[in-house]
Amino acid sequence: MTQRILAGRKGWPRVVLARAGAYDPDAGLAAAENAGAWSAWRKAVADLAPETVIRFVGEAGLRGRGGAGYPAADKWRTCRAQPAARRHVVANGYGADPGAATDRTLLEQDPHGVLEGLALAAFAVGATRAYVAVRADATVVVRRLAAAIREAEEAGLIGSDALGAGFDLHVELRELQGAFVLGEETVLLRALEGKRGMPDQRPPYPAVKGLWGEPTVVNNVQTLAAVPWILANGPAAHRAIGAADSPGTALVQVSGAVKMPGVLEVPMGTPLKQIVAAAGGATGELKAVLVGGPSGGFLPAERLDLPYSHAALAGAGAIVGSGTVLVVDGSACIVELATLLERFMSDESCGKCIPCRIGTRRLTEIGERFIGGRPRPNDVQLLGDLAADVRDGSLCGHGITAPNPLVSGMRYFAAEFEDHILRSTCPAGVCTPLRVAGGTA
Ligand SMILES: Cc1cc2nc3c(=O)[nH]c(=O)nc-3n(C[C@H](O)[C@H](O)[C@H](O)COP(=O)(O)O)c2cc1C
Ligand code: SF4
Repeated sequence: MTQRILAGRKGWPRVVLARAGAYDPDAGLAAAENAGAWSAWRKAVADLAPETVIRFVGEAGLRGRGGAGYPAADKWRTCRAQPAARRHVVANGYGADPGAATDRTLLEQDPHGVLEGLALAAFAVGATRAYVAVRADATVVVRRLAAAIREAEEAGLIGSDALGAGFDLHVELRELQGAFVLGEETVLLRALEGKRGMPDQRPPYPAVKGLWGEPTVVNNVQTLAAVPWILANGPAAHRAIGAADSPGTALVQVSGAVKMPGVLEVPMGTPLKQIVAAAGGATGELKAVLVGGPSGGFLPAERLDLPYSHAALAGAGAIVGSGTVLVVDGSACIVELATLLERFMSDESCGKCIPCRIGTRRLTEIGERFIGGRPRPNDVQLLGDLAADVRDGSLCGHGITAPNPLVSGMRYFAAEFEDHILRSTCPAGVCTPLRVAGGTA
């Protein structure tokens, strides 16, 4: 399903989607170049040293858009510093969260922008091979990217002796299909090697030991798409946008009970309530937003002044995660929603480590007892203890963030949880074994 790109507020700059809509992605390379594609690449290869590209990206303050927000330049510097015969760069366009079409929308609308960013990353770290990993079922993305790679190669922009500058860059498109955890970088790398994978212990990070044991940068496609803009406009222009601790913009999928669901490009640090307003506002009374995807956190309407940034969201119990803002209205039950999300996280656990494999299952069971009218006396205490164990003992981000929906739900909607646990009542009237508040059993 193609997503609507929302206009956003007046004055919100476009970085990642700067060229979306400026050319027809099916009209060939010339149309893309007329809209500015590959100009930063030509300039970098002609005029800049790889270290200068890394310095610009560092000065721009660009942080990864794949969820964790790691500074892109630090990753690139580490990769470049490794003594190795070969290095690699991977564009992570897998888009693991089924509720987020942000990366897919970018890839559909500006395939050349992602490829140009990938080429710049490869040039910066000294990689001769680069990969774009996407979902096999994203057929428009696959078609447009395949054409864009072919056109760029035929024009000599990439390939052997790219732009006649003595630099080789071979780009491969890889179509993958798998579970949620396939988007995690170490699993993605195993898949690109043709193996089945589970998340690896880190360190060593992929920038040191990645594909086939060789230094590899993995970046989200949005992170890469920001790089041509940074080189074209200068690092200071990027730093001037967004939050001081996370400059630039991010794509946000706004969905749920909003008037205009779609993809928005927002300056980092934008208050959540402006994001919801830019999607037309809630359809009814706004009860909560779930920020960050299936392992994101619920925030109540009173907290919508919170800026959309890694630090602010983490402090409030949510995450940037997959970049979704799901608007929840009064017809939904937070206890039920949190339990459904916990079940998704449990079903999608790869099973490698016990805290995540068993812990998310037990957390789900506690939630199911709450919504089924069968709470046990120590369930609340158990939920808190288990959530801490799962978060602290899990190997990868999947388990570390998995307890978020239940924990944030209990933090901000304690009265709704108490109604379920102590009074066998579901105020929203969703949990059928329970009474509606004020009603009969
Ligand atoms: C369970 C799980 C799923 C993930 N899925 C994705 C994904 O679909 N796309 C993505 O870019 N990053 C995903 N990540 C984050 C990647 O592991 C990695 O941090 C990211 O691709 C690095 O790019 P960045 O530094 O540009 O953010 C996922 C992480 C976890 C734990
Ligand atoms: S935290 Fe979960 S998904 Fe990650 S390695 Fe452990 S079991 Fe697998």
